[in-house]
Amino acid sequence: MGGLTYFDFLAKFGVGGAHPGGILLTQNILSSENISENSLVLDAGCGTGQTAAYLYQQYKAKVIGLEINPIMVEKAKDRFQTQQLPIQLIHGSIEEIPFDDHSFDFILSESVLAFVDKPKALSEFHRVLKKGGRLIANEMTINKRFNPQEEAEIMNFYAVDSLLLEEDWHRLLQEVGFKNIELKAQNPALSHGNHAPEFNFSKDFEPELFHILNEHGNIVLKYQDILSYRVITVTK
Ligand SMILES: C[S@@+](CC[C@H](N)C(=O)[O-])C[C@H]1O[C@@H](n2cnc3c(N)ncnc32)[C@H](O)[C@@H]1O
Repeated sequence: MGGLTYFDFLAKFGVGGAHPGGILLTQNILSSENISENSLVLDAGCGTGQTAAYLYQQYKAKVIGLEINPIMVEKAKDRFQTQQLPIQLIHGSIEEIPFDDHSFDFILSESVLAFVDKPKALSEFHRVLKKGGRLIANEMTINKRFNPQEEAEIMNFYAVDSLLLEEDWHRLLQEVGFKNIELKAQNPALSHGNHAPEFNFSKDFEPELFHILNEHGNIVLKYQDILSYRVITVTK
């Protein structure tokens, strides 16, 4: 595969709403939160910025996008400039968030936490949230433990250091100090792609990226009963 990863595929194809349920699920979740034009929101691992754009357009919230992949950063910047959205974009990591303690009212992490050092990123989220602030995440979760070899296949493909059950997420969130911890499995109608996919292709993408897309599809299908996700909401 020439060292190319699932994230190279997402970045070069410029996949918007690169999380289960896509923008429709995002809109649904956000509608139960108290977001307003006074809210400062961090879209942590914002990808091409689809959700960040929505947060400004729908709520007039003050939005900051944080993203580690330079191609994603360019594509998000492009979106914000083209649509003239006053969204600040920062190239950096959620494992070391370049903001002071108690900065944000909301943090969104849509399929990002699962891929990083989870305790480190969670304690960063806790640090930069205001007291009473909310973390909203949509993260890969397994429904039960299974064959270690098959778990390794998934961990290897997505380059994740662990696969968490609901109770593992719960424990990590509690250890960091979050309260009102809720993890919800989703209505399949929302999770099965009834939204138009969005792409912003790079001019120079490698043909091997189609193999990565294919392998992702195979893994999702092969492990459909086990490999799932939860919408996680917590309060600081
Ligand atoms: C599955 S994509 C989701 C992107 C976006 N949240 C969305 O839903 O469309 C994961 C994103 O997290 C970014 N990412 C991975 N590790 C990161 C880190 N340590 N800090 C910031 N962003 C990170 C990747 O570059 C990628 O854009």
